[in-house]
Amino acid sequence: MSRWALVLALCAVTLAGCSSPKEPEKTGETGTNASSGATGGQPEKRYVIGMSQCNLGEPWRVQMNKDIEEAVKQHPNIEMIFRDAQNRSEMQQSQVREFIQQKVDLIIISPKEARPLTRPVEEAMQAGIPVIVLDRKIESDNYTQFIGADNVKIGREAGKYLVKVLGGKGDVVELKGLMTSTPGQERHKGFMEGIAGSQIKIIFDADCQWLEPNAQREMKSALSRFPKIDAVYAHNDPSAHGAYMAARQEGKGREKQIKFIGIDALPHEGVRYVKDGVLSATFEYPTGGKEAIENALKILKGERVEKSITLGTKLYTKENVEAGGETL
Ligand code: FRU
Repeated sequence: MSRWALVLALCAVTLAGCSSPKEPEKTGETGTNASSGATGGQPEKRYVIGMSQCNLGEPWRVQMNKDIEEAVKQHPNIEMIFRDAQNRSEMQQSQVREFIQQKVDLIIISPKEARPLTRPVEEAMQAGIPVIVLDRKIESDNYTQFIGADNVKIGREAGKYLVKVLGGKGDVVELKGLMTSTPGQERHKGFMEGIAGSQIKIIFDADCQWLEPNAQREMKSALSRFPKIDAVYAHNDPSAHGAYMAARQEGKGREKQIKFIGIDALPHEGVRYVKDGVLSATFEYPTGGKEAIENALKILKGERVEKSITLGTKLYTKENVEAGGETL
């Protein structure tokens, strides 16, 4: 063996010896690296949390990851591994299974669809890895904790709001979110409860899969079929904005006659649309990122947590937006 070969071999042995065998393999993408912190001289236990986000193409999900990162900053003993499933359920299934193989300490998942993600979550639980399900639900209750706002309530409040501003009657277009995801199903159910007993009719509806371009396209066909539309109930703000754009592009000024309402109320998205007069109302849908980290820590320390945490909502309208909205 040449002198260089010997030096290289020695380096390799030293490096291998340094890496802890418990350290999970990190395969690219964003990771918030934790250095082991210490409080009061006591070295804190280090934890690795895997977070599978169903997509990062929508501003609300980018905000959720930011909220998680912000909360993690307070806890240098937590290392986050973020994965983006690019809006594909199969990719999200593999991500959860990779986390199980890596033996992360806890998994946070915001699932794209309920059914396909149910098994992988159950597999993690069987492997002894606690799972926090965030925002969208799965089909079983075999998880450690669910965190999210009450989508039935939000839908109901949206229905009640339209009954009020339309004087109890009118023709409404409903632009739904992905109906294989639970918020889409629940926002529809709640809305029907909210308009029950009124003379509000849904004259057109479509599954827009939460996406603005789909909503814009569907609204275009609603506008061409129905000369009278009083309001659009969109399951999220991007869809409400897409519908508004379709009405504006039609060039007949109908965007001024139709009331557009959405859900999410991000400060730089839905709340801004309300301020600009694009939307009549938006309902806050908190991301739960901060709560997920707070509860993850409790779970990791062996504390008991509630099975389900329900986050609140707020209504933003032209009248209350400057004052910060109305808590519902
Ligand atoms: C983002 C989003 C939000 C919506 C939420 C429902 O992917 O579509 O706009 O409120 O998901 O899960």
